[in-house]
Amino acid sequence: MTTDDSAAVEAIVNEFAADRSRLLDIVEAVQRRSGYVSDEAVQAIAMGLQIHAVEVEDMISFYAFFDRHPRGRIRIRLSKTPVSFITGANDVARAFEAALGINIGETSADAGFTLQWTSDIGMADQEPAALVNGIVLTKIKPDDVPAIVAALRQHDDLALARHAIANAVVRPSLVQAGPLLTGPFDHGAGLRYALALAPDQVIEAITASKLRGRGGAGFPTGTKWRLTRKSKGQEHYVACNADEGEPGTFKDRVLLSDFADLVFDGMTIAGYALGARHGLVYLRGEYAYLWEALQAVLKTRRALGLLGSNICGHAGFDFDIRIQLGAGAYICGEESSMIESLEGKRGAPRDRPPFPTERGYLQQPTAVDNVETYVCAARILEKGAAWFQGYGTAASSGTKLMSVSGDCARPGVYEVPFGITVNELLDLVVAADAAYVQVSGPSGQSVAPKDFGRRIAYEDLSTGGSTMVFGPQRDVLGIALQFAEFFVDESCGWCVPCRVGTTLLRQGMQKIVAGRATLADVTETEALANTVMRMSRCGLGQSAPNPILTTMRSFPELYEARLQPGAFAPRVTLQEALAEAVEVQGRQPVAEEV
Ligand SMILES: Cc1cc2nc3c(=O)[nH]c(=O)nc-3n(C[C@H](O)[C@H](O)[C@H](O)COP(=O)(O)O)c2cc1C
Ligand code: SF4
Repeated sequence: MTTDDSAAVEAIVNEFAADRSRLLDIVEAVQRRSGYVSDEAVQAIAMGLQIHAVEVEDMISFYAFFDRHPRGRIRIRLSKTPVSFITGANDVARAFEAALGINIGETSADAGFTLQWTSDIGMADQEPAALVNGIVLTKIKPDDVPAIVAALRQHDDLALARHAIANAVVRPSLVQAGPLLTGPFDHGAGLRYALALAPDQVIEAITASKLRGRGGAGFPTGTKWRLTRKSKGQEHYVACNADEGEPGTFKDRVLLSDFADLVFDGMTIAGYALGARHGLVYLRGEYAYLWEALQAVLKTRRALGLLGSNICGHAGFDFDIRIQLGAGAYICGEESSMIESLEGKRGAPRDRPPFPTERGYLQQPTAVDNVETYVCAARILEKGAAWFQGYGTAASSGTKLMSVSGDCARPGVYEVPFGITVNELLDLVVAADAAYVQVSGPSGQSVAPKDFGRRIAYEDLSTGGSTMVFGPQRDVLGIALQFAEFFVDESCGWCVPCRVGTTLLRQGMQKIVAGRATLADVTETEALANTVMRMSRCGLGQSAPNPILTTMRSFPELYEARLQPGAFAPRVTLQEALAEAVEVQGRQPVAEEV
């Protein structure tokens, strides 16, 4: 590292006031400047923060977007999901390999390009998609690739290259707005109503609306806010989970790009209700392209007096929001991992209790809520709890944003009332011949046509919103294998049941998909899946077996058809063998299911 480089790293560390909790930002800035984080940079960062270099190394090794060794100046990351593959991602990959003269996973000899796969980048409705040094390319066709590569070679300045690439556009994704996303919208409308109430009354309004978290788990938001408010701490924090890493979901991207003001309004309302002065948005690294626009919205809100000191003239209510960029780790969507990452550490999940409501960011009470949850909160304060409860079902009030992709004519984001059936949703997106729907992403449920009458609601098919539709021509078990691979890639490696278990599950599925498995192999895979589900430390490992177990339950005939020909005749049926899975899932088999 030259003297110039050392000075640059030192300047970066100082830009973040040599604050240990900003290590993620510091490393991100070094990576952006140099393309990797050298040994010398690690030492300089450690010295600047007065921590051990091992701590810096450890953190860097956790995140997919950081490198310890030089890679290509231009980094092409192709989105790897079942939806990208059915829309032609493999052909696009071959076209990039041909145009660059390298294979996936390689860097060109002149260090100009690195080509690789990455997990879903949040563009499932416009796949095949890719990230090129943070620039999003969508709907790439193999024929587009030579022109993309030529533009990247021609322009040193990627901002210029971007204008020369027709695919460098994120298309509007909102297909159907409902009451939540229908205007008129007035800056700070919900916040003004909130400030007319006492903080406790704001929490009461949220509780009365029966709002439940939109990130997947469905925890009652009013309860979470009440617990956070009553927890003692020097500070209280409001955190917005914008990690949106579940393959197939992109509704938070739409909210952040088209309705950011509502998101920030909800966060500010939470700040008032909880007695917090600081809000944090954890924005997934894949959405870095939204950074400037989000900062502009924050700036406007400050100018309008909707952030800052004495907000809306309310003496003593000070609140502002900082955006933290993530660095490519699905586990950082899990709330305790997200908090670790916000503190500039590896995103390893924490043991709970204590829950974040008690000890979250910097060990202070923290409410972590999903992007959509904050939008709901803002609208509830503006329009009232009764208005919100007027939509949905008794146990699932309001509407839900569904991200729909795959084999359907109209992919995109749909705002639908809770209680809608899978069939009704399929009609909306025009997917008449759907043969399999993956609800709530890989960690959710694999639903067969016989279950398309089930409802999207916390009391039936609970979902964060990801909905991948597959037609009869798709290989259901092959897709389950891709999900198994996703969890191998994304396991944080902390606990054995998940680290080893996900790898063994992938092996089991590989054998099944290849037609080399006997019934004994299938039952062994199922037993292992149950063990991983029971024994894993956090939600990632606990839900990783879902695609395997739920495809076994929904499509037993497909597993039976794949059994090794000529293997010993099964003495039990697959349905019998799956009894344990059904028990663990907590749902009794019904006649039409088995
Ligand atoms: C592996 C894993 C990934 C998660 N990813 C997200 C995510 O990307 N966005 C999100 O809001 N919640 C995610 N969650 C759920 C969060 O832990 C948490 O429940 C949620 O942010 C709470 O917000 P809510 O109550 O508004 O839903 C994830 C959970 C797990 C176990
Ligand atoms: S379950 Fe997986 S992701 Fe969670 S702590 Fe264990 S290894 Fe990490």
